[in-house]
Amino acid sequence: MVRVAVLTSGGDAPGMNAAIRAVVRSGVVHGLQMFGVRRGYTGLIAGEFIHLGPREVGGIIHQGGTMLETSRCQDFKSEAGQLAAIRQLHDHDIANLVVIGGNGSQAGSEALSRRGIRVIGIASTIDNDLYGTDVSIGTSTALDTALDAIDRLRVTAAAHERAFLVELMGRHCGYLAASAALAGGAEAVIIPEVETDPEDLARQLSVSRERGKKHAIVVVAEGAKHDADALVRYFDKHSARLGVQLRMTRLGHVQRGGAPGAFDRALASRMGAAAIDLIGHGAHDCLVGISRGSIVHTPLREIAGRSRPLEPGLLELARVLAT
Ligand code: ADP
Ligand code: F6P
Repeated sequence: MVRVAVLTSGGDAPGMNAAIRAVVRSGVVHGLQMFGVRRGYTGLIAGEFIHLGPREVGGIIHQGGTMLETSRCQDFKSEAGQLAAIRQLHDHDIANLVVIGGNGSQAGSEALSRRGIRVIGIASTIDNDLYGTDVSIGTSTALDTALDAIDRLRVTAAAHERAFLVELMGRHCGYLAASAALAGGAEAVIIPEVETDPEDLARQLSVSRERGKKHAIVVVAEGAKHDADALVRYFDKHSARLGVQLRMTRLGHVQRGGAPGAFDRALASRMGAAAIDLIGHGAHDCLVGISRGSIVHTPLREIAGRSRPLEPGLLELARVLAT
């Protein structure tokens, strides 16, 4: 029987469990022997394989996090770490590996594939920065969580006529922040992809006040060059001149937790099944994603070192609709 292993790596994302379930159950239907690797690449290096059948992945489709656990694994970035992982795969007679994770994790998939391991990646990250997919597993749920917070902050901001700054995740990518700003009706958004001067933000807030808005919500991605702390400090220092103080809420890891929504469960189920279909057809070294509603796969070497660009016009639309 062909032995296939699945692991989750990097930041967890709501829907990873649904993807594990789909990979394992589809694999069994295809006559494959399925294994899970605990704790991402850390567990791969240590050889932490567990046998997974349909019942072992029962009762998880609605749960956030990952039943296999995940990790950031510095050792895996080195040649020695990758060779140790490959030894484990050979020792356990694993023919194919499925890696559920984000940009870093898929860079790891590509490194393994360059060393001769047959890998299929599944796009899963709340950041939605993976090239080769319109959307990754977990992004939709994280966005809903962020929106819930923004809606609540707007209520108290309006009651007190205050300006609130909400920091969302996104080390290198402003997708979450820009999308949450658009869907949450924020007055301003600051992301890593666009250089923002605090004075520009002050001008935007003052224009917003002149238009009769008494409150303001500013969404900031954590990786922005002027990050949330820097902006709060700047506005505190110049509060007399700018006439506004920013109160900050950092949403942090709250965005990664919670039960996956319908979109992420369905996406994860489709992507997990597609990964096994590809293995069944002898394909490997590609990332499973979704484009225009259809499942697609892109060679790992094409996605390595690239990031999904932000939709053109997203920021401009958020700005126009905030008038
Ligand atoms: P995510 O997959 O959510 O983007 P990380 O960027 O932390 O999360 O990546 C997850 C793991 O993938 C890292 O801890 C590391 O083990 C592995 N990884 C990241 N970048 C590389 C790389 N360039 N080469 C090999 N492995 C990598
Ligand atoms: O999962 C990706 C991500 O959410 C980034 O946006 C964020 O910078 C990072 O994870 C934080 O991860 P941790 O603090 O868990 O290492």
